[in-house]
Amino acid sequence: YDYDLLVVGSANADLVIGVDRRPDAGETVLGSDLATHPGGKGANQAFAAARLGARTALLARVGDDAHGRLLLDSQRTAGVDTVGVLVGGAPTGVALITVDPSGDNSIVVSPGANARLTPEDVKAAGSLFHASLVVSAQLEIPLETVEEVVRTLPPATRFVLNPSPPRPLPPEVLAACDPLIVNEHEAKVLLGDASGDGTPEDWARRLLAKGPRSVVVTLGAEGALVASATEGAVRVPSVKVAAVDTTGAGDSFTAALAWKLGAGLSLAEAAAYAARVGAVAVTRRGAQESFPTAAEVEALSEVGAR
Ligand code: RIB
Ligand code: NA
Repeated sequence: YDYDLLVVGSANADLVIGVDRRPDAGETVLGSDLATHPGGKGANQAFAAARLGARTALLARVGDDAHGRLLLDSQRTAGVDTVGVLVGGAPTGVALITVDPSGDNSIVVSPGANARLTPEDVKAAGSLFHASLVVSAQLEIPLETVEEVVRTLPPATRFVLNPSPPRPLPPEVLAACDPLIVNEHEAKVLLGDASGDGTPEDWARRLLAKGPRSVVVTLGAEGALVASATEGAVRVPSVKVAAVDTTGAGDSFTAALAWKLGAGLSLAEAAAYAARVGAVAVTRRGAQESFPTAAEVEALSEVGAR
């Protein structure tokens, strides 16, 4: 294989403002200076994997504009092969992000060029799929494009999906996931269960019943739960760190997990490594700029640890 990971997904310019608290409807608040960062769940995953040392390619679409060039530069800096990044058709996607003092964020995405990444673009990139050990995707691109990704997967290629932002998924997409990676909110949307009683173990069991070969439920500071028919359900602890900005940390978790699964680790082992990657990411500002190298993951020490 030429690539450990092919990421199919979005690329956004993240326009970030720090706020003391988010405004209510009809309210105005003053925030920090504006920061513009390369982001988008697809570009974030590709960047994170490449930064860790994975041979990575990105299939995405950006606009022929300054934001598109920011994204392409960032991917190349990390060592991502951008042969699959298509340019033009609409302005580059934009994410309006507020980050509060606890490091939590709220995001509104204008898809722009991401909405023009079509099933035909996937078909035309068939050689990238055949050259890749693992393929990952998210849902900031059209669902029919993700459906085409699933149809294009070579039989031996593993597929990892983070259904974010969440929406109900067709059975063929669910059946291809190994794993389906969800946080609590995404689990509830997929289960059609906004009230959301039950434990992560319950959600994982009910999600597995919808067809994916394995499921990972991320639990923020509580770590993650991994579940499959073969490995059962296992809790993976988090690493305690002082969070500054959680933006993109989930994307780095997914990328690290996908890479380590391709390298032959078990779901629980890969999730434990991915949790350390995500932990480093939340201690730094921005999405891609906050993602660690493998050496930085090794060097991570917990809050309170020596
Ligand atoms: O997951 C974080 C990402 O979500 C941000 O980089 C933003 O672009 C949105 O896509
Ligand atoms: Na971060």
